[in-house]
Amino acid sequence: MNVSEAIRARRSVRKYKPGMTIPQEHIDQMLEAAMCAPSAHNSRPWEFVVVESAEIRRRITHLHPYCKSLPDACLAIVVCGVPEAAPNMPGEGFWPQDCAAATENILLEATGLGYGTCWCGVYPDRERATAIAHLLGVQTIPVQMIIVGVADETPRQRGFYDRDRVTYLR
Ligand SMILES: Cc1cc2nc3c(=O)[nH]c(=O)nc-3n(C[C@H](O)[C@H](O)[C@H](O)COP(=O)(O)O)c2cc1C
Repeated sequence: MNVSEAIRARRSVRKYKPGMTIPQEHIDQMLEAAMCAPSAHNSRPWEFVVVESAEIRRRITHLHPYCKSLPDACLAIVVCGVPEAAPNMPGEGFWPQDCAAATENILLEATGLGYGTCWCGVYPDRERATAIAHLLGVQTIPVQMIIVGVADETPRQRGFYDRDRVTYLR
């Protein structure tokens, strides 16, 4: 599957085949894709927590109301922001965008590998982020969580191209 196909094939999957596992080489491939993402000043203000533990995945569902399929999936990759890695930025900094870029790379790499995924937002819900950070034992800020597993549903491909959202200045 090439990049263009992966972009168009990716859909949020909310039903997974339980009891499946993802080989380490595929996990590495997704994480490597994440770390290929662009980041402001090339600061790479992120860390990744791969949650395979069934018990921790179950506990996450008590902290995040919109990830009910997580226990049936194989794992979650929690993308955490490290604001201190990118000091002297305007406002709160670009770290949330940097983490979003890394997240999208994971989604596309996982799609190419044949897995289903779902992006579950955490930050800027600070209460949710703090609770999940505490559960994971990290000092950084969980920005989003990506559910990865073997899909047990096939949401159809669709396009959202809307010419009205585009302005050309020529
Ligand atoms: C910032 C962000 C947060 C999201 N949070 C959740 C979530 O908590 N739970 C969930 O099931 N889907 C979540 N989604 C997935 C969206 O609902 C989904 O991308 C959207 O409905 C479009 O569907 P598609 O991904 O299949 O194209 C989130 C997506 C983004 C970008």
